[in-house]
Amino acid sequence: MVTWPRKTERLTLRPARPEDIGPLLAIRALPAVTRWLIKTDVDPVQYRDRWLRAINDPYDHSAVVELDGRVIGDCGLGVIDGMGQPGGPSERSEGQIGYIFHPGVAGRGYATEAATSMVALAFGELGLRRVTAGCFADNLASVRVLEKIGMRREQHGVRDSWHAELGWIDGYTYGILAEEWAAR
Ligand SMILES: CC(C)(COP(=O)(O)OP(=O)(O)OC[C@H]1O[C@@H](n2cnc3c(N)ncnc32)[C@H](O)[C@@H]1OP(=O)(O)O)[C@@H](O)C(=O)NCCC(=O)NCCS
Repeated sequence: MVTWPRKTERLTLRPARPEDIGPLLAIRALPAVTRWLIKTDVDPVQYRDRWLRAINDPYDHSAVVELDGRVIGDCGLGVIDGMGQPGGPSERSEGQIGYIFHPGVAGRGYATEAATSMVALAFGELGLRRVTAGCFADNLASVRVLEKIGMRREQHGVRDSWHAELGWIDGYTYGILAEEWAAR
């Protein structure tokens, strides 16, 4: 079990409450945010259900991010299978992180702070062996967040990612192992 809330220097990360869904959806729907997401259309009912289901899902550690009691974004950690043959230790051995922050608070290090907490959760309480994240190569803010937290670019997919406005563009996958995180 994960202990919530998780406090960072400036932020509080916690599971969603029903009243968070509106503010979260409003942030997610901002064009500057949607622009960099894979899923551009969101069904509000499914979105709400997913957040509320996550509260009791041991493999979905999605968290609302609060600054001084105000929801400014969210940060997710999904527990997924690593690559490997069935029945081995690769099953549910990896964490996959993601984040969304309100553009009004951009560039203050909040995503980096929240993502750091999620990676620490993955390697700490959850005991996972590897954490990954993916992004469009053109998403420079996200690239920077992943590099600032010490993740390694492990895959550069040349024009492997479809973007509604930009067409076929490059994608990156980042990764870090538990022992690398510990040795940072
Ligand atoms: C990606 C995102 C979460 C970053 O949030 P944030 O709180 O601004 O992130 P941080 O402040 O921790 O770090 C952002 C870094 O990117 C840099 N950056 C931002 N825009 C940039 C740009 N266009 N070019 C180069 N660097 C850029 C910032 O300067 C900062 O780096 P620095 O600390 O070295 O100055 C936010 O922009 C967002 O929600 N984007 C839309 C959703 C999204 O892309 N989610 C991730 C999908 S993979």
